[in-house]
Amino acid sequence: MAKAKKSWEKRLAGEPDELTVDFVESLSYDTRLYKYDIVGSIAHAQMLAEQKLITKSEFKAIKDGLIEIGEEIVEGRFKFDKKYEDIHMAIEAALIARIGQPGGKLHTGRSRNDQVSTDVRLWMRDEIEILQGKITLLQKAFVKLASKHGENIMPGYTHLQRAQPIVIASYLLSFVEQFERDFIRLKNCRDLVNISPLGSGAVAGSTLPIDRKSTARQLGFADISYNSIDAVSDRDFCAEFIFDCAMIATHLSRLAEDWIIYSSAEFAFVRIADSFCTSSSMMPQKRNPDVLELVRAKTGSVYGSLMAMLTMLKSQPSGYNRDLQEDKIHIFAASDIVEASLDMARAVVSHTKFNTKTISAGLEEGFLDATALVEYLVGKGVAFRKAHGVVGSLVAYCEQQTKKLAELNLDEFEKYSSAIEKDVYESLGAANVVKKYITEGAAGPEQAKRQIAYWNKQLEQR
Ligand code: ARG
Repeated sequence: MAKAKKSWEKRLAGEPDELTVDFVESLSYDTRLYKYDIVGSIAHAQMLAEQKLITKSEFKAIKDGLIEIGEEIVEGRFKFDKKYEDIHMAIEAALIARIGQPGGKLHTGRSRNDQVSTDVRLWMRDEIEILQGKITLLQKAFVKLASKHGENIMPGYTHLQRAQPIVIASYLLSFVEQFERDFIRLKNCRDLVNISPLGSGAVAGSTLPIDRKSTARQLGFADISYNSIDAVSDRDFCAEFIFDCAMIATHLSRLAEDWIIYSSAEFAFVRIADSFCTSSSMMPQKRNPDVLELVRAKTGSVYGSLMAMLTMLKSQPSGYNRDLQEDKIHIFAASDIVEASLDMARAVVSHTKFNTKTISAGLEEGFLDATALVEYLVGKGVAFRKAHGVVGSLVAYCEQQTKKLAELNLDEFEKYSSAIEKDVYESLGAANVVKKYITEGAAGPEQAKRQIAYWNKQLEQR
């Protein structure tokens, strides 16, 4: 069979070199856009019919043909040939092969430059929803675990040194807040994504009466873009999307790091279920938090995608450049990793137990109540700086005596400050301290209870 030359190769002499074919193709990774390419093309064809650029029956042939091609792809019957470069050309070529001449009218008033941007935006709209769904499931897992530990206390850390007592629920809810911001970031990103570039053509629009608002409406876009040159080259939204993925990965890596540390024998704060641990090929006693280590490591790949995307955009001359084809490699890689990591994190959170006994047993180490004692003195009229110094000296004294603050008697306290009275003991010890937190958002049981109720309601509505 004689090889049919692609229409855009009439300009070129002979077949492209095999090296070129392999180098320029994106079909190996943009196939996953096929659904969006097909719905985008159907909307475009319908608009062409509305504008009398094609007939109604041509539209019907195009639509039916595209739907059949979609079915073939879903069922794995479609033969992808990299000589067609990308999913757009592969589908268009298949359409022409199937329905003949009407298929050759589909690309009227359109370029792959506005087409690919449309496809990516449609894909991303869905992907944002998927990621938001996974974030919500993870948040729910945290809230569920938090509601088991509304009263249990653990040390709160700064610089990974014991700082002040907190309830475990507040610790867990701190992640719900982080992921909530990720959810909102994705929602904001969607606003920039949900704009139709279709009809911008290659760079300058078209001399044909293309109705851009019609295709935008059909595809559910909130608006159209208003500058064709910008529209074909804008990938800001891709960089932003990958940044959002990178921030999710960052938050996941922080959780991973905490629990890798917390599951060590030195801490023994948490026990991750066996089904989410791995063992060692050599050391039979091992229970390793490999999944969390991998969640932590994969963050690096997402950052890599972000850097690649930004670097790709840097210094591009105005208008479309083929560089932009590589956007898909990075948006797909980043979202695949983050999807998998969110799933894994949710599973781990749902199957981890806090060793409240072990944690409680160590709570009186590290002077977690020192700051509360300072505030006790402030309540007695002592200036904060003065009180801070008094308690600093008391802690040093305790260390010499190997005593806790709560073990000092009033005579000992008296030597450091006359403002300390019998009621001081109500402010000492981790359990007393958390109950005394009164600020909104503090890490005490009262605040945690309110926040759990808030999140339960909030996440329920999603
Ligand atoms: N596969 C290309 C991409 O992803 C489609 C656009 C190609 N346009 C062109 N004029 N060569 O960007």
